[in-house]
Formats: sequence, C-alpha cells, structure tokens
Amino acid sequence: MGFLGSDTVALVTGGSRGLGLAAARGIGGRGARVIVLGRDHSRVTAAAAELVDDGVEAIPVAADVADPASLARAADAVAHVGPPNVLVLSAGVMAAKMTRTIRTSPDEWQRVMSINLDGVFYSIETFAQDLVKNRSGRVIALSACLGRFTGPGTSGGLAPYRISKAGVNALVRNFAAEMQWGQRGVLVDAVCPGHCRTDMGGPDAPRSAEEGAETIVWLADREATDDEGNVVPTGVLWEDRQIVPW
Ligand SMILES: NC(=O)c1ccc[n+]([C@@H]2O[C@H](COP(=O)([O-])OP(=O)(O)OC[C@H]3O[C@@H](n4cnc5c(N)ncnc54)[C@H](OP(=O)(O)O)[C@@H]3O)[C@@H](O)[C@H]2O)c1
Repeated sequence: MGFLGSDTVALVTGGSRGLGLAAARGIGGRGARVIVLGRDHSRVTAAAAELVDDGVEAIPVAADVADPASLARAADAVAHVGPPNVLVLSAGVMAAKMTRTIRTSPDEWQRVMSINLDGVFYSIETFAQDLVKNRSGRVIALSACLGRFTGPGTSGGLAPYRISKAGVNALVRNFAAEMQWGQRGVLVDAVCPGHCRTDMGGPDAPRSAEEGAETIVWLADREATDDEGNVVPTGVLWEDRQIVPW
C-alpha cells in the first residue's frame, strides 16, 4: 500500500506536457485524482482529456504559476475536487542560449526566475496550506542537474536556469526543515529527472519522459515511515530513486 489512492488528490503544475504529463499519468494510474495545471488553456484541456481516455480521473485548470492571482483563481476553480495532498511542481522554462551571467538581460533573468523559482513558491503557498494543516502530504519539485553545486551544475552558462534550480533546491531544503524532515507527515523533496525527450529536453535526449517521471511517481507514493516506523529520508535531491549531492 502506498500513499496514492482514490482518496488522494494530486496537483501537477506543468502537467500539460513532458515530465509533468508523464508524472500525472503515473500518479493517476495509481488511483489518485489529478489536477493538471498548465498555462495554455487548450493544451491543458487536451492533456486532461488524454488522461481521461487512459482511465485517469483528470481535471484541467489553466493558470500562470508566475502570477499568484492567477493561481488563486485556479484554486477556486478546482476547489470542488478537494485540497491536494500531493504537489508535483514541474512547470518550468529553459533560459535563452546566450545567458552567461554577463550576457543575461534583466528581462530574461526575470522571466526564468518568475516561473522556475517564484512559481514554485507561489504554487506551494496557494496549494500546500491544507496538506500542511492536515499533516499529510508529498511535495515534489522538479530541480535539475544544472542546478546542483556539484558535478554538472558547476559549468557556468544558462545562468538564470541554473540559479533558479539552485534556488528550488534551497526552497525544498528549507520547507522540509519546517516540516521537521517528515515528522509532520509531509515529505518535501527535489528531483533531478535526467535529460529527457520533451519539448524542453529536445528529441535527442537519452531518456523518455516516462523514465524521467518514474522517481517522481515513486516519491509521490512513498509511505512516510519505513517498516520499523522510522521516517524515510526527505528534504534531499533524488535521481533514479537515489539521493545525490546538492
Ligand atoms: N526535460 C529535461 O531534460 C529536464 C531536465 C531537468 C529538469 N527538467 C525540469 O523538469 C520540468 C519539466 O520539464 P519538461 O521537459 O517537461 O518541460 P516542457 O516539456 O517544456 O513542459 C513545460 C511545462 O511547464 C508548463 N509551464 C511553463 N511555464 C508555465 C507557467 N508560467 N505557468 C504554468 N505552467 C507553465 C508548460 O505549460 P504550457 O504548455 O501551458 O506552457 C508545460 O506543461 C521543468 O521544471 C524542467 O526545468 C527537465
């Protein structure tokens, strides 16, 4: 028995395409109702319809994660579904190619930060209130290898993207600490999905969106305690179900 089931409501930002859609399908396949959130109304509606065809109870909602007022309207629109107990925060954009720090325009910096970092905070602020109050939830934020302080994260370039994801890592760590590392019934984690074939990752990426989403679905379905009653590791960065250094 996992965390997911017919009494679970999952909200997936960026659920209209790519890794978010693959995660929504995996989570919905385990019985949860899934609210699929994307910016483009027709795309998010089509994605939810595709999931419904696959037997998932999916509800579309259009909102811009960079705009708290837009998220508040979305929360009202899906209030009838019930408060989410799983958040998958996948909405994100890549930085423009020429974004070494010194070549990044303030507009480009703001565009990427507002979606990739502010958007994660706004989504949590809007949708995580009940799961914190109820002491039962899973919050999974899409980070990236490029946001790490180790390995591939340290190569320079794509400044707003890398730094937004490093910020997501810090937000996850901070929020997890506030949840007392799982002791309050809420697991908060970051995921590095690897390089995946999506609109962002491109057609030549080595992994499918489903492969990239596998660890997200596993994290969403984890019990908060192991067989001995110990709280499972949380507040960390995961890649292929393994903890990797920040
Ligand atoms: N693909 C990779 O190789 C890879 C690697 C590491 C990390 N990641 C991370 O994984 C996440 C998903 O990436 P992906 O490859 O699935 O990207 P994708 O295929 O480009 O899809 C991006 C999703 O985010 C949504 N989105 C973008 N801006 C939004 C906004 N302002 N408000 C609401 N939704 C918004 C899009 O909705 P619309 O269609 O409505 O715009 C779409 O559903 C991102 O955070 C990305 O940084 C991806």
